[in-house]
Amino acid sequence: MVGAQPCDVLDLGAGAGALTAVALSARHRLVAADPSAAMLHELVAATPAAAAVQCTAEDLPLRPASFDVVAVATAFHWFDPDRALPEIARVLRDEGRLSLTWTTRDKSVEWVRRLGELLRAVQPAALKGDWGTGSVANVERSGLFQPPEYAEFELTQQIDRDGLLGLVASRSYVMALDDGERRRLLAEVGALYDETAARDGVSLPYRAQCWRAALATAPRRSG
Ligand SMILES: C[S@@+](CC[C@H](N)C(=O)[O-])C[C@H]1O[C@@H](n2cnc3c(N)ncnc32)[C@H](O)[C@@H]1O
Repeated sequence: MVGAQPCDVLDLGAGAGALTAVALSARHRLVAADPSAAMLHELVAATPAAAAVQCTAEDLPLRPASFDVVAVATAFHWFDPDRALPEIARVLRDEGRLSLTWTTRDKSVEWVRRLGELLRAVQPAALKGDWGTGSVANVERSGLFQPPEYAEFELTQQIDRDGLLGLVASRSYVMALDDGERRRLLAEVGALYDETAARDGVSLPYRAQCWRAALATAPRRSG
């Protein structure tokens, strides 16, 4: 059953387990799958109640019809849809749902737009905020799922000066800058923070774009 009742959830492309932790706290039963051993190591440390499986979405070592929900957070655009979608359909129960989410910083907020400009001066793709979601078209195109429903949610994270500088400094393209460039960028981000922040910091706004698709009616399973 899909809804408020605890159900069987596969967190696919689980990474370090951000979604896994939330789903566990809602009392669902979790299997977390990711190809990266390093990510799964972090996930197991943070959420020992989840069963961790090292695999790709294209080749799931999981029984047919064993999940009510396959949830993919900010990862579906990395999958090969022609191979991953049949695998996802195979492991879902008849009433199951595929859930796709992308959470991106909301660049319609003025200071986030200016932060994006500072970052794009060193990495043109930084904070574009619209990557990935085009891959949802593959879900309907596969014929394995009904047309996805869509919902959008806004959320904010309160962040202080060190938190913002740490977030920027931890981007791989910022780490790759030479010392002078990195110091200059962090000084500019610090100045933006000082101009923007209230006493308790700044609100970092995010937009979660969510799709949910039910399985198409039979025939749908190959094995
Ligand atoms: C941006 S992270 C998102 C992690 C987590 N879902 C979250 O929301 O924090 C994308 C994850 O997708 C995983 N990934 C990449 N290609 C994959 C594939 N073909 N099958 C399954 N997972 C994949 C990566 O290892 C990475 O952990």
